[in-house]
Amino acid sequence: MCGIVAYIGEREAYPIIIKGLRRLEYRGYDSAGVAIIHDKELVVYKKKGKVNDLVEFISGTKVHGDIGIGHTRWATHGLPTDVNAHPHLSEDGRIAIIHNGIIENFNTIKEELLTRGCTFKSETDTEVLVQFIREIQKSENVSLFEAVRIVLNEVIGAYAIVVIDKDNPDQLIAAKKSSPLVVGIGENNEFFLASDATPIIEYTQNVVYLEDEEIAILDRHKGFKLKNIRNQDQNPIIHKLSMQLEAIEKGGYDHFMLKEIYEQPKSVRDCMRGRLNLKKGSISLGGISEYEKKLINAKRITITACGTSWHAGLVGEYLFEDIARIPVEVEYASEFRYRNPIIYEDDIVIAISQSGETADTLAAIKMAKSKGATILGICNVIGSTIARETDAGSYTHAGPEIGVASTKAFTAQVTVLTLMALQIGYKKGTISQSEFNRLLVELDQIPDKISKALELNDQIKEIATIYKDHPNALYLGRGYEFPVALEGALKLKEISYIHAEGYPAAEMKHGPIALIDEAMPVIVIASKGPLYEKVVSNIQEVKARKGKIIAIVTEGDTQVRAMADHVIEIPRVTEGLSPLISVIPLQLLSYHIAVLRGCNVDQPRNLAKSVTVE
Ligand code: G6P
Repeated sequence: MCGIVAYIGEREAYPIIIKGLRRLEYRGYDSAGVAIIHDKELVVYKKKGKVNDLVEFISGTKVHGDIGIGHTRWATHGLPTDVNAHPHLSEDGRIAIIHNGIIENFNTIKEELLTRGCTFKSETDTEVLVQFIREIQKSENVSLFEAVRIVLNEVIGAYAIVVIDKDNPDQLIAAKKSSPLVVGIGENNEFFLASDATPIIEYTQNVVYLEDEEIAILDRHKGFKLKNIRNQDQNPIIHKLSMQLEAIEKGGYDHFMLKEIYEQPKSVRDCMRGRLNLKKGSISLGGISEYEKKLINAKRITITACGTSWHAGLVGEYLFEDIARIPVEVEYASEFRYRNPIIYEDDIVIAISQSGETADTLAAIKMAKSKGATILGICNVIGSTIARETDAGSYTHAGPEIGVASTKAFTAQVTVLTLMALQIGYKKGTISQSEFNRLLVELDQIPDKISKALELNDQIKEIATIYKDHPNALYLGRGYEFPVALEGALKLKEISYIHAEGYPAAEMKHGPIALIDEAMPVIVIASKGPLYEKVVSNIQEVKARKGKIIAIVTEGDTQVRAMADHVIEIPRVTEGLSPLISVIPLQLLSYHIAVLRGCNVDQPRNLAKSVTVE
């Protein structure tokens, strides 16, 4: 988490940095700060709260300078206060740093610095880092680059850092390990740095994704030099960005989350484009073609992910087992990485991550890789660390997702998993030609059915008005709809701060049923499928205890309508594809409830979109 931005060139740095920080605010919004060098003076402004609070705090002051750094924070060490906000300065005020990550051995370094007489203003690991760099610069009498290099050889942990020195306003020094950092290369030695490419795209399409332990020296006279922490020269590989500016703007919607919910017919279509060929009756996921044989012969697959991506993984489990008859385990990356799991060399691990930067997921795949497994990735952000660390994979092509609560990434992840399971099941012969063809046709119709489900918006808003003040909610589903129940509950708690739990409908009897009374809204996904009658029985059990039923049903349903307090009718769809439709009303329900409660939908408290700390 934390977003970092930096600029060096001929323009005013401040507006570029502020705009960049707004784009990166999804990464954390506990505090924000900037440091700019002008006329050999280093000025720092930082404030607890959001980028807007910082801008307000600075308003009225003219901030000039053509080199600067900025940071938006998700607090790890120390409270979200003004003092703990980045940038942090060396004690003599000469060097400023921004940092995304965690320095694990900061205490040991701090003790050493204390014995050398350093004093500290904040509780952060980052202040220790900048003081250490300055100490080395002074004691060894070396350049800023060399001081950073020496220090990075001593630290344990994760970092993406940018450092500036007021006595050398011609250089930015940047480095990364585990946390992401992108360099944007403009004309005439103009450079941009950011945690992802979104702050950069309006200035240049040429970017370099820094690799772990690389240090970039960005100099307004000498250009771009890339080294590693062992002081070896590195070759920067320039990538062209294909992202469009409109994709990261709200486009008339009140919130990014709503825009992203409404983008799903398109994002799911984009995800299938060039992969599902109805005319030929084929699926081809180019990214994994090399590993097709391995998948066909796989004795088991482990899916690892966090949050919403983990829920998509659960849907993947049902899909792979149903269609391709491969046993699947779905693992929370944070547990998997530390559990000493049994991994065989012929295992396939699929990592799912919207951002491609989640620290636990990244660590899980590194661990599985070290044990010889084949690692495939399903990521949304092109060029992200997980996408680069995996042996192969398929991008979801959902476009930038900015709302912290994930929506279109989920449906795109499920779409990729469906395509994978179908491709492998078909090649393996575990589904018949006719079933394969039928599913292709159904899959191709999914974007239109999502559009139809989105037409339920007004009805869902009305239901939201009724339940917005209820403090709890239970979400129930069975089979393919169980992960959807989990995802619905997660959406509600994330953005509206209402306590919500998702359960397999039948499990309700083993505990949650004790919570049911007339004040408990129970959202049941009761779409038509093999388990429909069973879910109807579960609804009756809730009704018998006076719970309020909000049921998601297949259009034309009469049985549940007779029992439920509210029914939301979604288009009919074959069982295996139902999560792609049934999740839509749940996304809308949580969105409207959160808006009605006055919550900050796009930036819910305490959360961040890209969790780069474990
Ligand atoms: C955070 C986000 C979630 C996301 C999860 C995993 O918690 O708020 O929306 O599902 O991280 O992120 P990833 O980028 O790996 O999918």
